Amino acid sequence: MKIVVAGKGGVGKTLIAGTLARIYARMGFNVLAVDADPAMNLTYTLGIPAETSSKIIPIAENVQLIEERTGAKPGSAFGALFSLTPKVDDIVERYGVIGPDGVKLLVMGTIKSGGSGCACPANALLSALFRHITLRRDDIVIMDSEAGLEHLGRATAKGFDLLICVVEPSAPSIETAIKIWRLASEINIKKVIFVGNKVSDAEEEKYIRSELGKASLDLFHIIPFDTSITKAGRARVAPIDYSPSSPAILAIHSLADNIRKFYQTK
Ligand SMILES: Nc1ncnc2c1ncn2[C@@H]1O[C@H](COP(=O)(O)OP(=O)(O)O)[C@@H](O)[C@H]1O
Ligand SMILES: [Mg+2]
Repeated sequence: MKIVVAGKGGVGKTLIAGTLARIYARMGFNVLAVDADPAMNLTYTLGIPAETSSKIIPIAENVQLIEERTGAKPGSAFGALFSLTPKVDDIVERYGVIGPDGVKLLVMGTIKSGGSGCACPANALLSALFRHITLRRDDIVIMDSEAGLEHLGRATAKGFDLLICVVEPSAPSIETAIKIWRLASEINIKKVIFVGNKVSDAEEEKYIRSELGKASLDLFHIIPFDTSITKAGRARVAPIDYSPSSPAILAIHSLADNIRKFYQTK
């Protein structure tokens, strides 16, 4: 199962992506986590120590690798010859980092200067790598994506089976979610589910349900607002390690179960 987590900035994508990855790994799945957000903080919610994460070179910034695989230096402009089909099948194994519970993490870095139309060596390598990831035989791939729509406008999320669209109880996050849902259908993502995060009370839940309902969309799951998540952030400890049975973490466990059940009954 290939899962991409999307939604407006700050809604909780990285919390959910990293925590789900850990939970599925604990269930015994072989999990590949992919950080495709320029902010690159999936290491934090996965519980990879700062000493390790500060040494990770994102693929998009690995000048040597890009040159070796495409035959051209990153930034080579227009007219430069480079391979559009670089070899990528060993990259996850060679550049992936193993984190707690055995989750494997690949940090992609930023695809600079807009869209799939950017004909540059770095982009050729990243595009080939994204394609490769969706074909790999990992049990579960979880990708933390860029805030908003950027990645989905490109080929990045193509080939994913499930898009978890995260919203919080605010109109802008729901508007973004609806745009993402439209884009997802254009790139043939099979299933989109909406998850409400940072929900403090019944009124907030009702608000999200009614806003999604106006577009005939359902809320799949709810994660409560939980101060232990913000406390974990201050302590710089992954939330799943800081407060394993706090309400938000328990809700992500049940999200993981519900997604599994959904796919088992299909
Ligand atoms: N359920 C929650 N309760 C309280 N705070 C949360 C919750 N989910 C996320 N946060 C906080 O919100 C902020 C943004 O979360 P993050 O996962 O980084 O969002 P995104 O990746 O979508 O930008 C973080 O400071 C995080 O600690
Ligand atoms: Mg994030």
